[in-house]
Amino acid sequence: MNQEISQTQHDLNAPVRVWGISDVHIDYEENLTALLNLDLHAYQNDALIIAGDATDDMERLAVLLKAMKQRYRWVGFIPGNHELWIARKRNKDANDQAKFATSVDKFNAIRDLCQQLAVFTAPQKVGSQDNSIWLVPLFSWYHSPEENPASLYASKKCEKDRTQEMWSDFFLTQWPDWKGGNTADYFLNLNKPVLSESYDAPVISFSHFLPLQELLMASKEERKHSDLVYKDITPEFNFSRVAGTQIIDQQLRSINSTLHLYGHQHRNRHRKIDGVTYVSHCMGYPKERQRGLVANECTHPKLLWDTQQGFY
Ligand SMILES: [Fe+2]
Ligand SMILES: [Fe+2]
Repeated sequence: MNQEISQTQHDLNAPVRVWGISDVHIDYEENLTALLNLDLHAYQNDALIIAGDATDDMERLAVLLKAMKQRYRWVGFIPGNHELWIARKRNKDANDQAKFATSVDKFNAIRDLCQQLAVFTAPQKVGSQDNSIWLVPLFSWYHSPEENPASLYASKKCEKDRTQEMWSDFFLTQWPDWKGGNTADYFLNLNKPVLSESYDAPVISFSHFLPLQELLMASKEERKHSDLVYKDITPEFNFSRVAGTQIIDQQLRSINSTLHLYGHQHRNRHRKIDGVTYVSHCMGYPKERQRGLVANECTHPKLLWDTQQGFY
């Protein structure tokens, strides 16, 4: 019945576009408003992928995903680190600690929510009858340098590394006893069935965390656009410790991904490295846009692919 409805509503030869965004941080009212202001009719044959860090509030996440499903034919979502917080920093009344014993329980609840709302968290083929593409979510977390040499960690010229004290995840997430394993391994292992699939069309993959250390730093070209971005205002904080893992890169290359969307750093990139185009299009915090760390245009999803032109 549902299939019949969707086939009558959608012309199989109509153009399809794929849009991406991450780090929409909708606890900031103006970020949520920007997304709720997206046109209700303009994207009805399109796909939107959201690469994590929308909110740690499940009810608010449901509001966002429902609103996006009203606008886009396909919506894909993967949780970032913020979604997996089970204690709240700002609002102690809405404390998920009572609801979820661990962040893994909350991750599973988010996947259930997505399923209820027909938001995909597994590979989804989209496109028209004769030009299609696979959208492949890759779950992840960051490896610390102590956990795995695939960590994106780079040392900084600072006497004291206070990342552990300064990074909220260490206080607001709760993990099972991994018994020698670690959080990143847990999520990366969840991707194994997806990696063993064969894809009969080009692949756009997406993860919340960074897949390569070199993406941490702006390229020469990117540096030309702003001085502010490169001023280190917190030398005791080393983001590379909590940035991602190269295993994500190994995974996306193993499925021949052409374009990979990622988020987390709130520093946006569009760069081709060894045949793969890496795109970060984080909306970020209002104050990051005010300071020029994130461009104002990032309040709207970025066009990644369409049936007319292919990749952007
Ligand atoms: Fe974020
Ligand atoms: Fe993040």
